[in-house]
Amino acid sequence: MSEEYKVKCIRCGACFSKEDVVYTCRKCGGLLDINYDYSGIDIERVVEAIGEGVWKYRVLLPFAEDIKPITIKEGNTPLYKCGRLAKSIGVDELWVKHEGMNPSGSFKDRGMTVGVTKAIELGVKGVACASTGNTSASLAIFAAKAGIPSYVLLPKGKVALGKVAQAMMHGAKVISLRGNFDDALRIVRVLCEEEKLYLLNSVNPYRLEGQKTIAFEIAEKLKWKVPDRVILPVGNAGNISAIFKGFLELKTVGITGSIPKMTGIQAEGAKPVVNAFKEGRGEIIPEDKPETIASAIRIGNPVNAAKALHAIRDSGGVAESVTDDEITKAQLELARQEGIGVEPASAASIAGLKKLVKMGEIEREEKIVCITTGHLLKDPERVIEICEAPKEVDADVDLIRKMVK
Ligand code: F0G
Repeated sequence: MSEEYKVKCIRCGACFSKEDVVYTCRKCGGLLDINYDYSGIDIERVVEAIGEGVWKYRVLLPFAEDIKPITIKEGNTPLYKCGRLAKSIGVDELWVKHEGMNPSGSFKDRGMTVGVTKAIELGVKGVACASTGNTSASLAIFAAKAGIPSYVLLPKGKVALGKVAQAMMHGAKVISLRGNFDDALRIVRVLCEEEKLYLLNSVNPYRLEGQKTIAFEIAEKLKWKVPDRVILPVGNAGNISAIFKGFLELKTVGITGSIPKMTGIQAEGAKPVVNAFKEGRGEIIPEDKPETIASAIRIGNPVNAAKALHAIRDSGGVAESVTDDEITKAQLELARQEGIGVEPASAASIAGLKKLVKMGEIEREEKIVCITTGHLLKDPERVIEICEAPKEVDADVDLIRKMVK
C-alpha cells in the first residue's frame, strides 16, 4: 500500500528508484534501506488491520494497493508463554516466537513473500540466492508459486538434510559449491549482475521489509506493548536488523513507546558480529573458517553486519556467543520442557538467554521474547546425533513390558 517510499543508502544517503534493480549503493557500496514517509502512515490502518500474516501490515510494506502478493500464508506464527523454561532459567516472563511454524519451516518465508512479489513486479526472468539452507528452501517454494525459475548455491555437505530436500522438491536448480556460505554469496552476487537474475539474499532490502513483520506481530500479540528484550540468532545479520526496523517504525508512527533491547547470539566458532560489538567496532573482521553445529549460522562474513551492529547498539542490547554444547543443551530443554522443536541455530537464542542471565547482563524482571527461527525437522541428522537411539526388540509383549517398567 505504501507506494511512497525511497530506497536509500544507510551510509551516504543516496537514493535509488523503485524500478532500479539495486542491492547495495552504487555510489559508496553501503547497505540499502526502504524509507517511508511516516507522517503519511495512518496508525489506525496498522492497529485495526484485519487479516493475518505478513500482508496484514501492507500499509507498512513497499507496494501499491493493487499489487497481488505471491503468498503461501506466511507469518502469523505462535508466540508461546514459556513458564517452565522461564523458571529453570531464572526469569519472570519468557515468550518464544516460533518462526519454525511458517509454511517452509523458517522465518525466511516472510522475506520471500515480499522479495518474490517485488521480483514479479520488476519482471525479472528468475531468482537466485546463496544459502545455508533455509533461504534456498523458501526461495524455491515462492518461485514455484510465482511460476519463475530459481537457482540456489549451497555449501557442499554443510546444509541440513530437510532444507536441501525442500529446495530440490520445489524445483530449484540446486548447485552444490565446494566452498562455504561466504564463497557462495560472493559468487551468486556476480552471477545475478551478469545473468540478470534477481538476488534474494538478505542484502536485498525488500527481504527485510517482510521480516520486520515479526516485530509487528510480537507487539500486536502483547497488546501493542513491546517486550524489554528480543533475543535471536545472528548469521548473515539480516533478521535482527529487520526486526529492529519493525520496532523502530512502530515507535516512529506513534503506536508504541519504546524499542526492545535487540540481543544477537552467534556461535562461538562464527562470531564476527559479537567480536565487533565487544571491541566497539562498526565493521566486522571476516572469519575465514566459520565452524559450528548450527549450520544455518555458520557464516564468517555477514553482509548485514553494519545494520545489525547499529540495531544492537541503538537499542541498548548486546551481542554474545554460545558454544555448540550450550546450543544442544538449550535445544533439548526447549523441546522437553515446552514442546517446542527447533533446529540448532534457533536454540542459540535460548542458550544466549541462559548465558546472559548467568552473567548478570539480563535481569530477572525483564519481559523477554526469544525468536526460534527454524523448525526441528529441518535438521533430523542432528537429532539422531544427540538423542538416545530407539531400542530394537522382537515383537514380544513380555519383552516390551519389561522395557516400559
Ligand atoms: N536461524 C536460522 C534457522 C537461519 O536459517 C538463519 C539464516 C539465521 C537464524 C540467521 O538469520 O542471517 O538473518 O542473521 N539463514 C540463512 C540461510 C543465512 O541461507 O538460510 P540472519
